[in-house]
Amino acid sequence: MSSSAVAPSPHLPVVIVERPEHARAVEVLVDRAFGPGRFAKSSERLREGNHKLDDCSFVALLEGRVIGSVRLWPVVVGDAPVAFLGPLAVDADERSHGLGQALVEAACDAAAKAGWRAVLLVGDAPYFGRVGFSAAPVSQAVMPGPADQRRVLVKALVDGGDAGLVGPIRIG
Ligand SMILES: CC(C)(COP(=O)(O)OP(=O)(O)OC[C@H]1O[C@@H](n2cnc3c(N)ncnc32)[C@H](O)[C@@H]1OP(=O)(O)O)[C@@H](O)C(=O)NCCC(=O)NCCS
Repeated sequence: MSSSAVAPSPHLPVVIVERPEHARAVEVLVDRAFGPGRFAKSSERLREGNHKLDDCSFVALLEGRVIGSVRLWPVVVGDAPVAFLGPLAVDADERSHGLGQALVEAACDAAAKAGWRAVLLVGDAPYFGRVGFSAAPVSQAVMPGPADQRRVLVKALVDGGDAGLVGPIRIG
């Protein structure tokens, strides 16, 4: 390192793969971000009884404290395996610094490396559109339970990875 190089600051957040010791803090963060109604969401039907993709789920840490989280889950649309993203949450005091986007990008990159062809989620297109998600390719993929179909979004990780996603979205 040259004398003018700057060492990484310990006061900057880092995004790393979630480890078991982060799980409790992730639950607290997500509870705070979504409130008590979070378990009633249709997305939750794709998580309960499912096992998250450990290598594709990330936390943002600031000085060892969990300030952001994203998880991916294996699901099937029709016959096609797809990674389902959520919840995504960033501590209210740490928002608008790009952490949400960094977490989504880390999860999608890891999913691509792991061989997944597409990532699916239920969320706001104005936000997730910035990181490559769109609604049209999954207009015929149906969430379990009540959901606004227009909020079902997908991002292809390989050419054509978002094609042919037709039918119920379910745990595989
Ligand atoms: C959504 C969330 C994860 C974004 O985290 P973040 O670290 O602030 O994200 P980024 O820094 O990448 O992006 C922030 C920008 O997105 C915008 N944004 C946040 N949520 C948005 C939404 N639902 N729709 C449109 N824009 C949104 C912010 O206003 C901000 O805009 P700016 O860049 O003009 O200031 C965070 O707001 C959060 O935890 N919200 C509560 C939980 C939630 O809604 N999760 C997503 C649903 S799956």
